Amino acid sequence: MEEASAPVLPIHAFEEEICHSVSKNSAIVLIGETGSGKTTQVSQFLHKAGFTKDGMIGVTQPRRVAAVSVARRVASEMGVQVGAEVGYSVRFEDRTSRQTRIKYLTDGILLRECLADPSLSQYSVIILDEAHERSLNTDILFGVLKRLMLSPTSKLKLVVTSATLEEHKFADFFGGCPVLKVPGRLHPVKIMHALERPISYLESAVETVMDIHANEGPGDILVFLTGQEEIEKAVKKLTDRVMTLEQGTCQDMLILPLYGSLPPEAQVRIFRPAPPGCRKVVVATNVAETSVTVDGIVYVVDPGFVKQRQYNPQTGMDSLGVVPISRVQAVQRAGRAGRTRPGQCYRLYPQSVFDHELPPVTLPEIQRSSLTGAVLHLKSLSLPGLDVLHFEFLDPPPREALGDALRQLYLLDAIDADGDVTPLGRKMADLPLEPHLARVLLAAADLGSLDEALTVTAMLSCEGVFTQRSDGDRGGSLPDGDGLGDHVMLLQLYRRWEKAGRDPDWCRQKGLQARSLKFAADVRRQLAAAVSKEADVRNGSGREPDRNQKSEKRRDGSTEERTVPLRKALCIGFANKLARRMTKHNGYRTMGEKSQLVQVHPSNARLQVDDDGLLPEWVLYHELVATSRPFIRHCCKVEGAWVDPLVRRTEGLDLQRLSGQPATLGEEAGPGESAKGAKVDRSVSGSGSQKR
Ligand code: CDP
Ligand code: MG
Repeated sequence: MEEASAPVLPIHAFEEEICHSVSKNSAIVLIGETGSGKTTQVSQFLHKAGFTKDGMIGVTQPRRVAAVSVARRVASEMGVQVGAEVGYSVRFEDRTSRQTRIKYLTDGILLRECLADPSLSQYSVIILDEAHERSLNTDILFGVLKRLMLSPTSKLKLVVTSATLEEHKFADFFGGCPVLKVPGRLHPVKIMHALERPISYLESAVETVMDIHANEGPGDILVFLTGQEEIEKAVKKLTDRVMTLEQGTCQDMLILPLYGSLPPEAQVRIFRPAPPGCRKVVVATNVAETSVTVDGIVYVVDPGFVKQRQYNPQTGMDSLGVVPISRVQAVQRAGRAGRTRPGQCYRLYPQSVFDHELPPVTLPEIQRSSLTGAVLHLKSLSLPGLDVLHFEFLDPPPREALGDALRQLYLLDAIDADGDVTPLGRKMADLPLEPHLARVLLAAADLGSLDEALTVTAMLSCEGVFTQRSDGDRGGSLPDGDGLGDHVMLLQLYRRWEKAGRDPDWCRQKGLQARSLKFAADVRRQLAAAVSKEADVRNGSGREPDRNQKSEKRRDGSTEERTVPLRKALCIGFANKLARRMTKHNGYRTMGEKSQLVQVHPSNARLQVDDDGLLPEWVLYHELVATSRPFIRHCCKVEGAWVDPLVRRTEGLDLQRLSGQPATLGEEAGPGESAKGAKVDRSVSGSGSQKR
């Protein structure tokens, strides 16, 4: 293992003060520029000061890739193996042990841990890191941790760290707790704006990098793009361009991508200094904006866009679109150029866009997300007197979004008509999946298609597999889902891989990522274990729920017939994401209150067409991508007969009752509330964690 020497960072001057403040207060807020050492150093300070004697230090990260890379870095600085004193836990990958004292984990994992251990008794300190990112899970944790801190028996300490100046908002939220500031060491950054928006920001970014490379002095370049696909395109273009440069005209260029699903080995390379005489170019997603700091960056190329989730509770649609960044983000990005010495930032948009078109701040995720998963989580925590509609949020989400989440959860059978979590909902919350996929697995267990559903869910949970599929040279030799869509295709692909003995060479031939498939197998194993645990609760037996049904061979018939139980389960899980084809053409209309006209995304596995060239009448989909026009992605053919009962379920739904509120949504709670509070209270008694 390469051992990193602990760097001297601005935060080191504050070690004593931080430790003292944590020992004296139950919560503090720590503010410091990105790169000042908050994420990598504070946990080590507290460890050295003895805070890990009675429990672990948990450091939350909104991003998986940050949690992993930072844990590796800290382990390396401390000269220990990852998984020993320093470990990490992200979804489907737990690298901790009984030795672990410092644990980096995603905010989603910590929320999940609250389900099993509401008082977080394993921890002595929680560092709620990168709070400025305002991720949905971090925002929920704010409220959950606040409740916990108010408990007279809780000894938990909380450190909230942030790179921006919302310190008073955070401090006020925790009853006016102390704020510590680590002064930054930022060098001046010269900002250049383009005269007009380029036709293609990708081309323009490549052009700008080549310009800097040819004309500017030494120093590494950081380019912000919006996603893996774009980044790989840019890396390819840059590589091609560098090849055409005359030898000896300028120094070499080392081009490195950085995005969430990048293999760990590739992530580590980002942080290594470029060899002498070579310029490093990091082409990154937004992860490099604040959560990951790469040293040596002198030039930043900022096209001004970011890929962002946007949920519209009225249409019930979740879209992942490319949107302009906020002014705060633009400033943050520029700052990345001035970490080691004065730098330059090339904004690929005019000054007037910055001044007049960019929104001043980024809307917190909680205000633009589907809250289905979050509300299920909150309700499953069985916090005494919890009322989701009046939960203490740092910034409350829109009422419609909460109402929408309740409606979705009801549709998925996760809550009953009174808004109480059903046994099924509780199981869904315990599974490490978003509610739709969790529902699919539980439905599949009942329909005898758990085996298939586990494979499909596992494959869907591994980003790498999905993109590789469309990139790989399939040459007709790989399964294509037999016209039924992505899910069946993924199932077939996985089975083919197993049949080929999980052979990495086979993967290479087929243009598939062996690593991603192996990861899918691991995820599958974990999901199978989690489902069988849930089934134990239900059956009171250790049997995997569909063992007997699974052995019932379904070898006969077409793929379409054989996958009926699987597709039925998918249909139940995605009951609120169904679309029906138009009678005369291949446009689809989504179901729901405000339906939309959409097209099947071209990346989708081929769907069957009838003699008139028409696609299946009914499909389910996972997401709506709003690029030039709305597309639905990850579609699967389903039958009208399965859809009917699901759609009928929404009719006559009483949202007021569902919310558990006697009054209309948005109005103050009436007398029914206390009764509800008392009900929840009873369910939690005996857990020894009475609060308030
Ligand atoms: O959290 P904050 O932005 O304040 O800083 P940090 O992430 O703790 O980073 C402190 C220093 O460690 C920076 O100079 C990073 O470049 C370096 N670092 C690294 O070299 N490799 C990592 N995997 C993480 C951080
Ligand atoms: Mg940090």
